[in-house]
Amino acid sequence: MIRKVRPIDSVLDRLVQLESLNFGQEAWNKQMLLDMFSNKWCMPYAYYIEQTIVGYCVLVNCGEFCDIANIVVDKQYTNRGIGSEMMQYMIDKSIKLKVDHILLEVNTLNERAIRLYEKHGFKIIALRKNFYAHTLFQSNDAYSMLKKL
Ligand SMILES: CC(C)(COP(=O)(O)OP(=O)(O)OC[C@H]1O[C@@H](n2cnc3c(N)ncnc32)[C@H](O)[C@@H]1OP(=O)(O)O)[C@@H](O)C(=O)NCCC(=O)NCCS
Repeated sequence: MIRKVRPIDSVLDRLVQLESLNFGQEAWNKQMLLDMFSNKWCMPYAYYIEQTIVGYCVLVNCGEFCDIANIVVDKQYTNRGIGSEMMQYMIDKSIKLKVDHILLEVNTLNERAIRLYEKHGFKIIALRKNFYAHTLFQSNDAYSMLKKL
């Protein structure tokens, strides 16, 4: 089940854990997550299996468009469609917000995520050299990807 998350300690601790397991030095820490929660344009959602958060994602309402700021699935739960469900959820939210398009950035070597985004209709529109300061991938470059609504 996907639902909006609130910044209570147990949730923050789990999100910090998911971040550090998946993004290494690039991971958002607790303060960054709290800043995100206090930004009224950020919409964080978690994917729950029973009481456990197994994934989360962040959609940002930028006015004319939405930005997907993050999407993570616990490694133990990948490849069973959870990422796809969260993508569809954010696309549906964006449609309700009547925005024109959705944007995101992804490491050029993150094939898994690129495949997920392409499956949901996103197209590569730009290469952003050295977009990431730190990354677990062998490249710091990102693609900007866009889905028209
Ligand atoms: C990217 C991520 C969110 C996908 O979540 P998920 O729950 O596994 O997604 P799904 O199960 O819906 O789909 C995964 C797709 O990737 C494919 N895939 C799996 N391993 C792959 C690989 N090594 N290379 C390319 N595609 C791969 C699967 O086959 C599946 O595609 P399909 O549905 O066409 O078969 C998850 O892997 C993750 O959290 N990665 C680490 C964090 C991250 O990189 N986030 C993106 C930041 S921009």
